[in-house]
Amino acid sequence: MPKMKLEMEVNSRKVVKETDTHKRLLDFLREDLNLTGTKEGCGAGECGTCSVFVDGKLVKSCLMPAAKADGAKIETIEGLARPGELTPVQKAFHKTGASQCGYCIPGMVMAATACLRENPKAGIEEIKERLGGNICRCTGYTKIFEAVEIARSVVAGEAPADVLDEDEPLGESYIGHNVRRLDAPSKVTGRLKYAADMKLPDMLQMQVLRSPHAHARILSIDTSEAEAMEGVACVITADDVPGKDGFGVFVHDQPIMARGKVRHVGEAVAAVAAEDLVTARRALSRIKVDYEVLPGVFDSEEALKPGAPAIHDYAPDNVVKHIPVRKGDVEKGFAEADLILEDDFSTQQVEHAYLEPEAGVAYVDADDVVTVISPSQNITHHRHMLSDIIAKPINKVRFIMSPVGGGFGGKEDMIYQGMLALAAMKTHRPVQLNFTREESLIASAKRHPSRVHYKMGLKSDGRITAVEFSMLSDGGAYGMSSEGVMRKAAILSCGPYEIENLKVDTRAVYTNNTPSGAFRTFGGMQAQFATESMMDMAAEALGLDPFEIRRINMMKVGSLTHTQQALKTASLDRVLDAAEKASRWEKGAPKVRGATRQDLDGPDTRKPCTLGSRIAAAASGPEKGETPAASAKAKDNERVA
Ligand code: FES
Ligand code: FES
Repeated sequence: MPKMKLEMEVNSRKVVKETDTHKRLLDFLREDLNLTGTKEGCGAGECGTCSVFVDGKLVKSCLMPAAKADGAKIETIEGLARPGELTPVQKAFHKTGASQCGYCIPGMVMAATACLRENPKAGIEEIKERLGGNICRCTGYTKIFEAVEIARSVVAGEAPADVLDEDEPLGESYIGHNVRRLDAPSKVTGRLKYAADMKLPDMLQMQVLRSPHAHARILSIDTSEAEAMEGVACVITADDVPGKDGFGVFVHDQPIMARGKVRHVGEAVAAVAAEDLVTARRALSRIKVDYEVLPGVFDSEEALKPGAPAIHDYAPDNVVKHIPVRKGDVEKGFAEADLILEDDFSTQQVEHAYLEPEAGVAYVDADDVVTVISPSQNITHHRHMLSDIIAKPINKVRFIMSPVGGGFGGKEDMIYQGMLALAAMKTHRPVQLNFTREESLIASAKRHPSRVHYKMGLKSDGRITAVEFSMLSDGGAYGMSSEGVMRKAAILSCGPYEIENLKVDTRAVYTNNTPSGAFRTFGGMQAQFATESMMDMAAEALGLDPFEIRRINMMKVGSLTHTQQALKTASLDRVLDAAEKASRWEKGAPKVRGATRQDLDGPDTRKPCTLGSRIAAAASGPEKGETPAASAKAKDNERVA
């Protein structure tokens, strides 16, 4: 590999190092200097996790070739404060709890530092604007902005430095008080090691060959050329699996790597472990796979039709799971109704987009224990599945959960840990796999796209007499968490409303789409979207206040849930009261409120977001004859240029 010599000052230390010419500044910092506080979230200049200072300017290091930084002064998150200390910005992030998974936080701290260096008196609008290039998927920005404002007040001398150290008095309980997170200092300093930050001696890098086809039979895989390459330690395929090759949270239908056929674009077919990433990537192109493309099915309704391609032999009807719930007499309930409403609701596939792409390390320890380190949200289950897959007793399999840089359910399904274990077993060396953002998008499970057909019967006073709820969800190529998602969707189907007569069916089916899996609410969101929409439509049809129709039907103490459990406590009345008050709801049946709405732009409500135009508009007003919006856009363009 062609080399270059770089000389630069990094965190006030002179660095002279030979490195590969293809490296980005981000790679040089992380791989050559072990400064892993700078994270890679997207690798495409979108998320800001890789922000560093280059000659005093905030730069996204994933976009900068390392060669361009030759001779520059670099400052990373590790260099902001002296060892053991925190800067005012870092202290403020700690104080306000402005870090959840923490993966975005080093980048946020760098952007906040840049903001206050450029303008120590920056107002909240400018702070928001200057942090606009950084994405956080979990903290929710409010705490982050609050932290920067507190730090600004200290830096500008408007508040004493010790406000950053002060805490609310706790009294006798932690409950109801702000308590500092114990793990925040390691996050605001970039010291916390996520799986991709870990380095073990003699570690190999893994890359995965993925299917270009949605549905195809694998006729042959020839790995000989890749295996013969210098620097390649091993190539693995389904043939290397010694045990029962199937995993999944409920049905174990997914092989570690495609076995016999591929069922979705992006499915792992083979993997290479090599001395370095470039060699591993090159080796992928030397693996020859012969496919026979099969007809695919990409729509959940099509998948149920007679004659549809069967995705798995064990399920010729393509049904992953059907959950029926029955209560009362639905026919009788509809016969008693004064009004029957019927409609369809659909929700789309959703990507979790956690900022930390999937990553992991595996090794075999001195006692022959196969150890996997990964941000898994279900390590005990993963450990048991892996023990069957690699045919080792459970005491010879160890899972260590690395810090999870955002999961939202998406790291509950095991999709790559098995490959790491197999390669570590084959080479007896540590192996690391770090997904790119593209790989994370193509290979990880998504929220189930769902269609709900809803039928609701009501008396004219708003009381629901019967519901028929039928949900069809696209489970994608493998079962993963589909069964659990369908169970939860069925249980929550008709919301927190007492309904005497109901007929609920939730079904997940196989298709050749990317598998669907766990995602926050586990099917509840899709069901509630339909139910709450139906409630609003019913209120409108009956001329009732939307809050009122919910109060009429809400479950109370003693109510029987859809699955016949008697409730011992219930709080929906208080939730509705609080929501009505907080939203400044104007009582009455739904109507277009327009400019008369009390719930928008009032005191304590958020202003509409106009991010991107405020600073430009404030810096200079519109040119003569130019609209304010056009002026702001022109200024934005100047900044981009
Ligand atoms: S902006 Fe560089 S990793 Fe996202
Ligand atoms: S704390 Fe920001 S992405 Fe998790």
